[in-house]
Amino acid sequence: MFDDPHSPAWIPLLEAAWQAREHAHAPYSQFRVGAALLTAAGGVLGGCNVENAAYPVSLCAERGALSAAVAAGLRPGDLVAAVVVTDVAELTPPCGACRQALIEFAGELPVLLANHHTRQLHRLENLLPHSFTGGHFR
Ligand code: THU
Repeated sequence: MFDDPHSPAWIPLLEAAWQAREHAHAPYSQFRVGAALLTAAGGVLGGCNVENAAYPVSLCAERGALSAAVAAGLRPGDLVAAVVVTDVAELTPPCGACRQALIEFAGELPVLLANHHTRQLHRLENLLPHSFTGGHFR
């Protein structure tokens, strides 16, 4: 299902990501990003980037969606799929900080990157190999 980038299963996530992107606050970069996450409970949570005049305070779309998902009850291991959308030609992968934030809640996570013309499917464990986890210090 989520191993096929053109599966209809992605549709609710793509819709949520595009919808969230409409609300992006990106007056500094003008680069609007939308994200959506699917939880094991079937929830679809969207997020957008939220920039700030104090640049480092800015938040990526993926971590915005993650915060919404955790607030809706997401527990570690329960993240099923993720989508990131932008309207530029080159597809936008999650930044390093977002990869680390997402892997905390995912076992194996298919990550679909999309614009209005194309899609590319990755797996989070390939985007962030040898990741640091709580198991390293517990
Ligand atoms: N951004 C995201 O929201 N997600 C990504 O995957 C990459 C970058 C945002 C952060 C900032 O608001 C803008 O894109 C430019 O870096």
